[in-house]
Amino acid sequence: MTSEQTVLHLLEQNRNRYLSGQEVANTLHITRSAVWKAIESLRDQGHVIEGISRRGYRLLTATTDLQKERLAGLLPSFEVHLFDSLDSTNRYAKVLASEHPEKPALVVATYQSGGRGRLGRSFFSPKGGLYLSVLLPMAFNLESAQLITSAASVAALEAIEQVGGMRCQIKWVNDLYLEGRKVCGILTEGVLGVESGRLSAVVVGIGINFCIPQAAFPLELQGTATSLFDGPSSVPASFDANLLVASLVENLHALVSKLPDRSFLSVYRERSLLLGRKVTVHQDRQTFSATAVSIDDEAHLVVQDDQGRQSVLSSAEISI
Ligand code: BTN
Repeated sequence: MTSEQTVLHLLEQNRNRYLSGQEVANTLHITRSAVWKAIESLRDQGHVIEGISRRGYRLLTATTDLQKERLAGLLPSFEVHLFDSLDSTNRYAKVLASEHPEKPALVVATYQSGGRGRLGRSFFSPKGGLYLSVLLPMAFNLESAQLITSAASVAALEAIEQVGGMRCQIKWVNDLYLEGRKVCGILTEGVLGVESGRLSAVVVGIGINFCIPQAAFPLELQGTATSLFDGPSSVPASFDANLLVASLVENLHALVSKLPDRSFLSVYRERSLLLGRKVTVHQDRQTFSATAVSIDDEAHLVVQDDQGRQSVLSSAEISI
């Protein structure tokens, strides 16, 4: 085992207390500087390790127990790619699509060093999350992209409820919220067919905060983000993360294959966090207050301002 692995192992066995650098060094018979290097390297790999002066180090995140063979067995029609660490599963899935656009694939990572969010933002992706991209070969147009994203929200919401029993809500357009905080984000990207020049495959990227302790979120996300489980010690022994991923991918596949029916829209509306609420709309550098009144058949949000004027939004940032 390398020093990193032995340090990680020791921190895992002592999750409920701080270990000083000296204690780690003495226990493992390595120097203080080797301890420090190992901690830095583990942090680079996505482990969140709290370090408090005069108290020591404490590991906050966990390794999610996913197995490639199990996922492949649960999802026989998908080619499964599982990584401990990747920059972005969406980026990787798009490379796969450029090589074999006709093959459905699932790319999963337990840490992303460059997780991508909507609107060019980054997505916080430490160990303890589930980061997956589903590559679905299908011809589609830009208008359907919103429907695919909305279907993905329902697929994730239902998988979380089926496997974990938690009841999430959907914040238009594609965020899942648990008890008022974001627990899952979705980024859908199209892939252009080399010969056709048309969108020939879709990559649906889904990031679930699975067992990230609240203390591991950076300060700016503390009030707005949460996780299905508050750290690895809160995950019941019977919980199988492979089942959560597989059920999500199956739900998504099923909903996207009957997209024109829009059958998912009833759940999408029923579980909306916004409908009937006063919201603030941020769109094209404009901000206005309104009430979210409905979601139309294209999954656009209909809002009504204080003068009774209605707008149909296909994209906007909404705050509540
Ligand atoms: C958002 O909330 O802005 C969307 C976040 C989407 C994150 C997921 S994690 C898996 C996939 N790979 C990425 O780089 N992004 C998506």
